[in-house]
Amino acid sequence: MSEEEDSKTVSRRDFMKVTIATIGGLITATYAFPAIAYVLGPALKQEASNWIQLGSVKKVETGTPTLFKTIIQSQTGWITAEEEFSVYVLTEDGQNFIALSNICTHLGCRVRWIPEKQGFFCPCHNGAFSKDGNVTGGPPPKPLNRFESKVENDILFVKRG
Ligand code: FES
Repeated sequence: MSEEEDSKTVSRRDFMKVTIATIGGLITATYAFPAIAYVLGPALKQEASNWIQLGSVKKVETGTPTLFKTIIQSQTGWITAEEEFSVYVLTEDGQNFIALSNICTHLGCRVRWIPEKQGFFCPCHNGAFSKDGNVTGGPPPKPLNRFESKVENDILFVKRG
């Protein structure tokens, strides 16, 4: 075998090595990319929006805080959790809406609207709030939290911060 033929043989061998390595790499990538995406996907996923749909705006009675309840899902990494989300919505003119948290600002109990008193009452330590959420009695240190709200196609949404 001449020296030139020997170098061609080595060249073919190198070509086969590169070809086999390339095919092996493609096969590995075919399985590895979906597996990596499956594992990392939930951790990298971001919530598309913080707007929570409450329901029809027609449900809100003018001058009376109306309680909306909904279930929201939250995703933390691979864990999906469901929680109940409640908010009182008040309007005095049917156009502008105030969305109030039903969580007392003292120690986190749920407040209730008491129509006879025209205010919110917290049963845990007798906290009291006005119709628009300001403290009127008891230990709560600040007004009920408010949520940004919007109406689209007669559906009420609140933004959860
Ligand atoms: S938790 Fe509401 S008054 Fe204490």
